[in-house]
Amino acid sequence: MKISYQETTNDLLTRINIHDAYGSRDIDKWMLEVLPLEPGMSILDVGCGAGKQCFSYLAHLNGKATITGTDISDKLMAKAQEENKKLGDRVTFQKMDFNQEFPFPQETFDLVSCSFAIYYAEDIPFTIKEMHRVLKPGGHLFTTGPMPENKQMFYDIIREATGRVIPPMPGSSRYASEILDAIKAEFSQVDVHVFENPLTFPEVKPFIDYTRASLSEDRLLWNTFFQTKADFEQIMAEITAVAEKWFARDGKLVMTKVVGGILAKK
Ligand SMILES: C[S@@+](CC[C@H](N)C(=O)[O-])C[C@H]1O[C@@H](n2cnc3c(N)ncnc32)[C@H](O)[C@@H]1O
Repeated sequence: MKISYQETTNDLLTRINIHDAYGSRDIDKWMLEVLPLEPGMSILDVGCGAGKQCFSYLAHLNGKATITGTDISDKLMAKAQEENKKLGDRVTFQKMDFNQEFPFPQETFDLVSCSFAIYYAEDIPFTIKEMHRVLKPGGHLFTTGPMPENKQMFYDIIREATGRVIPPMPGSSRYASEILDAIKAEFSQVDVHVFENPLTFPEVKPFIDYTRASLSEDRLLWNTFFQTKADFEQIMAEITAVAEKWFARDGKLVMTKVVGGILAKK
């Protein structure tokens, strides 16, 4: 399947900030608990975006790790580099398309991580095989992605507002099935960890901001749903009206993020 997708810097950072502000749990902390991180490790982060996970690993290991972050987006990599400079250039950022052979020899890394990105791969088994190839024997792959029940409220409000079912993001439909299967085919030991984070919105606006930052990205993927900017604004107005109705009824809006973390050992 060919997916034309490019995360925009602002949309990604808007969603990250909203998770931080309204979520009750910290996903970065959860990752650090689940991951077998040890000082001296060599880590590759695939689809690193603005470098969130790279910097989290670096801080957790007190700088005692060799960390390489890779992504296809020049804009997000520039953001990552900006932060990297402030931290003394401790992470290596390198442009890489995960649909191509990875530019690393086999058995290079102790850990390959890939957060909220693997489901954009054109050929999942190919990308998983590349991750496996660059891992040392005994090394780990860790990928995160949305589980099928992720942010149910978001889909319910959109369905009520539009009378249509928005196609789920490729992540939601592929993560717990196709991606898990591809990892099981390649790795000897595979565990799935689940992280639940209810985001409680005390007013409608941040939910609408989140929806915009999420749907404007989906618009690129699902152009049959939103064809023009006017369609998009019309749908946003309908979603806002339903969200306001739900808010008046319940006194808050709660959207629960349900994230899976697949941890596999080579
Ligand atoms: C939702 S973002 C996640 C970024 C980061 N891991 C985080 O959690 O903040 C998805 C990332 O996948 C990247 N991506 C999409 N297609 C890619 C490809 N073909 N090769 C490498 N990265 C890609 C995007 O540029 C984006 O940075």
